[in-house]
Amino acid sequence: MLNVDISNIWGSLSLPELLGAEREVFDAHKLLVSGKGPGSDYLGWLDLPVFEPTDEMIRIRGAAKRIQESSDIFVVVGIGGSYLGPRAAIELVKGQFHNLRGRDTQVFFAGNNLSTRAWQELCALLEGKDFSINIISKSGTTTEPAIATRALKWMLERKYGAEAAKKRIFVTTDPNRGALRQMAAEEGYETFVIPPNVGGRYSVLTAVGLLPMAVAGMDITELMFGAASARRDMLNLFSFENPAWLYAAARNLLYRNGKVLELLCSWEPSARFFGGWWQQLFGESEGKDGKGIFPATAEFTADLHSLGQLIQQGERNLFETVVRFAPAPKKTIIDMDWKNLDGLNYLEGKSLDFVEEQAFQGTLAAHTDGGVPVILVQADEIGDRVLGELFFFFELSCGISAYLLGVNPFNQPGVELYKKNMFHLLGKPGY
Ligand code: PA5
Repeated sequence: MLNVDISNIWGSLSLPELLGAEREVFDAHKLLVSGKGPGSDYLGWLDLPVFEPTDEMIRIRGAAKRIQESSDIFVVVGIGGSYLGPRAAIELVKGQFHNLRGRDTQVFFAGNNLSTRAWQELCALLEGKDFSINIISKSGTTTEPAIATRALKWMLERKYGAEAAKKRIFVTTDPNRGALRQMAAEEGYETFVIPPNVGGRYSVLTAVGLLPMAVAGMDITELMFGAASARRDMLNLFSFENPAWLYAAARNLLYRNGKVLELLCSWEPSARFFGGWWQQLFGESEGKDGKGIFPATAEFTADLHSLGQLIQQGERNLFETVVRFAPAPKKTIIDMDWKNLDGLNYLEGKSLDFVEEQAFQGTLAAHTDGGVPVILVQADEIGDRVLGELFFFFELSCGISAYLLGVNPFNQPGVELYKKNMFHLLGKPGY
């Protein structure tokens, strides 16, 4: 099981405070699993993790195989909760250079912005390549993916002809409702389901995440096994031995003590989009009713050279949550250089891991000395199973944490206003 270590937060929180919150955390957890809390129509994510592949997962693996065989490039179209999960997963497990490896199908993401330059860059990339697309949208009406869909569909039809193009379009959407469901039915596209009771930011363990992950060569059965193990271990554990309890409680108590900003830090460059997924999960779930911890992300050591000063000596309103993975199985050793012009021979024979560990310990000590509490989330080596555990752990923590905060974790009323303004300015009928 994942381990949450709060031994570096005591300067900003006392043990009696933590123990005093146990009853509250119990109530929040009970409220969540009872299905009687605010937003409880959207608790489907609690039951997504499974130990054995479902029919939908088997169909996903089949589609992924066909896509890998027929396509140089797989374009995944979606935004927000219909985008960040698969991108986070693929980059974390397959690495930040996953698209440059061998002859594997490359996975690119579109429909998550309105940038003309990004669009033209994608078009240039697709020139002369065989490609397929996955349109992901629960509502089926989101502007960014809808615009990309229209253009990519047209590109496929022009390249392959209308009938053959249909075999290259995969739709992930609501099982019954929305424009995308209707389009898929009329055009005969293969479809996958986003259950109505699963909101976008909790949908990574549905086809939203699983199809792109399978195309990228991830083992989705292992991922689900990891999530199911976390579910088994955490859902019915009503004590601070539950890592989700400890995390939810610590971050809420720190917030009450004036730590209004949480920095999710990783020491892995490939975790950057995992940070993006986490940021949406917590930001959209908790930021409402005038409350909410601001979720920000950082990649160490790179960001120690940009944010380090602010973290160490800026306003004392932040805490860190550091996600630490076990060291990579294969070591990289620093060589001796007989000229030693760079003065690095004192590290001769040491592994890069050793250097990183010293940097980590040094940073931890500096930040806690500087009044920044640090919550450590310790996970095993990066892989499908561990990622599944992490996804479920953070989702469960978020549900409990939002109830502790006193907000509905499953709505996002504030996201609508920008859309209304944009539609009005664009002249959309009815706005
Ligand atoms: O979490 C959410 O609900 C949002 O981020 C949505 O996923 C995002 O707005 C995209 O919506 P849709 O999947 O309907 O296109």
